[in-house]
Amino acid sequence: MEEKIGKVLLSCEEIQRRVVELGEEITRDYKGENLLVLAILKGAVPFMADLIREIKIPLKYDFMAVSSYGASTHSSGVVRILKDLERSVEDHHILIVEDIIDTGLTLKYLKENLAARNPLSIKVVTLLDKPERRKAEVVPDYNGFTIPDEFVVGYGLDFDEQYRNLPYVGVLKPEAYSSEG
Ligand code: XMP
Ligand code: MG
Repeated sequence: MEEKIGKVLLSCEEIQRRVVELGEEITRDYKGENLLVLAILKGAVPFMADLIREIKIPLKYDFMAVSSYGASTHSSGVVRILKDLERSVEDHHILIVEDIIDTGLTLKYLKENLAARNPLSIKVVTLLDKPERRKAEVVPDYNGFTIPDEFVVGYGLDFDEQYRNLPYVGVLKPEAYSSEG
C-alpha cells in the first residue's frame, strides 16, 4: 500500500499535534454546553476518533452518511442521506466533523438540512480545507490544514475505498490510479 504513495503531505506526528490543538480550542469553546459531535461517514472516522479524545468535556457523538448523486470525485451539489441521525438535536450544539471541504457543496447541503431541525448551533471542524475548489460559500469554524488542489488519501480519505487506514495524508503516484487494486 505505502509503495503507492508518491508524497507525504502531512505526517502522522503533524496531524496528531494539530488534533491536540483543535481539541483544546473546542474544549474551551464548548465548556458547559450540550455538545453533539457529528461525524460524516466514512472519511471523518479516524479524525473524529482522535479528536474526541482531545475534547475534555462531556459530549455525545453520532454519524451521518451522505452521498452526492453523479460522479464520485466531482460533487454535483445534490446530496442523498444514506444514514441519518438517531435522535432529535434540538437541545444540542452540533459540531460537524468532516475529513475535507472541497467544493463545499456537501457541507452546504448538510448545514441547511440540520438547521431545519433547530439545533442550538451548528459549527464545522474539518481536517483539511481545499479552498481553491470552492463552489459553495462555506467556511470551516475549525480547520486542521489548508491544502493545495491535489487529490489526497490517508487518515480516512480514500481512493476507491482504499488507503483510509494510512496514519498520514499523502498523494498517490500516478500508477496507483491504474486498476490493479
Ligand atoms: P465537497 O462537497 O466539499 O465534497 O466537494 C467533499 C467530499 O469530497 C471528497 N473529496 C476527497 N476525497 N481525497 C479524497 O479522498 C480528496 O482529495 C478529496 N477531495 C474531496 C470527500 O469524500 C469529501 O467528504
Ligand atoms: Mg471519498
